[in-house]
Amino acid sequence: MKATAKSPANIAFIKYWGKKDPKIRVPLNSSISMNLSNIYTVTTVEFSPSFERDEVDIVNGEFSEKEKQRIIEHIDRIRKKAGVQYKVKVLTKNNFPKGTGIASSASGFSALTVAGAKAAGLNLSTKGLSILARLGSGSACRSIPDGFVEWQAGNSHETSLAYSLYSASYWEICDLVVIISKKEKKIASTKGHSMAQESPFLMLRVDAVEKRIKQIKKALKNKDFSLLGGGIEAEALNMHAVMMTSNPPIIYWLPKTLEVMLAVQKWRGEDLEGYFTIDAGPIVHIICQKKDANKFKERLTKISGIKDVIVNEPAEGARLVNQHLF
Ligand code: DP6
Repeated sequence: MKATAKSPANIAFIKYWGKKDPKIRVPLNSSISMNLSNIYTVTTVEFSPSFERDEVDIVNGEFSEKEKQRIIEHIDRIRKKAGVQYKVKVLTKNNFPKGTGIASSASGFSALTVAGAKAAGLNLSTKGLSILARLGSGSACRSIPDGFVEWQAGNSHETSLAYSLYSASYWEICDLVVIISKKEKKIASTKGHSMAQESPFLMLRVDAVEKRIKQIKKALKNKDFSLLGGGIEAEALNMHAVMMTSNPPIIYWLPKTLEVMLAVQKWRGEDLEGYFTIDAGPIVHIICQKKDANKFKERLTKISGIKDVIVNEPAEGARLVNQHLF
């Protein structure tokens, strides 16, 4: 019983930051994202009676013991659901090297879920896979459906899941991932979510987020790029205000992060329309229209200290593939 899946990372337009139920990763608010075509994980999972112990490995990097343990915990959920007791072999490969500062939990846990469920003989729907992936890492549930995705917060295990709002080909917009530092982030997002509870702004943010969700949905529906971008940028700053006012405060930005943010705003005032968003790290994502992607890339590579720019278009969600990694 062996299966392999490929899954994209995703960028959140409306962010997931703070949990209603941390144990089962039910978020405080719904979120909206776009799957990314050029940042993905491929994972092969095999269960076999001939394996004597669980083995977890990554092709281009190294897993810490903690990371391995989190993967095995997810495999245990799959084993339990499928009634499988065999030991497992998991091999995973990111198309980006580990340590670029690109978070891999969304693509990683969604690929693991799709490959693992199939290898264990489970036949789950997109909805079922999204619910299961969420238990591994919240944002992973958004990498299961195609294209532009909403994760409905829900209020229980069964009701907290993601579904596609629009397919990948719906709108030609891009996410330029600007690699600023190759260092791992200082505070892992799982810890950051719980620290958010200390921010006096957390519940203000949650109360206001519904309005921003409406704005993003309207912008998507009408393909109104300025409305979309304005909403995305305001949302990112809002989440970072919560991060910065946690106790202790979390400042994910580096000086280069701010330099790129300001450049994006300056270019927008001149001749090039784009909007930034930032997750739990120093990397800046620039959302722009496809026609402008090369122009942005040219300008960004002229800024000293920018290590790389990865251009992404909207992508399909997680898929089974035929080529196994072992
Ligand atoms: C800032 O999904 O990594 O990227 O559920 O604890 O694994 P866990 O958290 P995770 O959080 C992602 C947070 C974010 C915003 C987002 O992607 O919505």
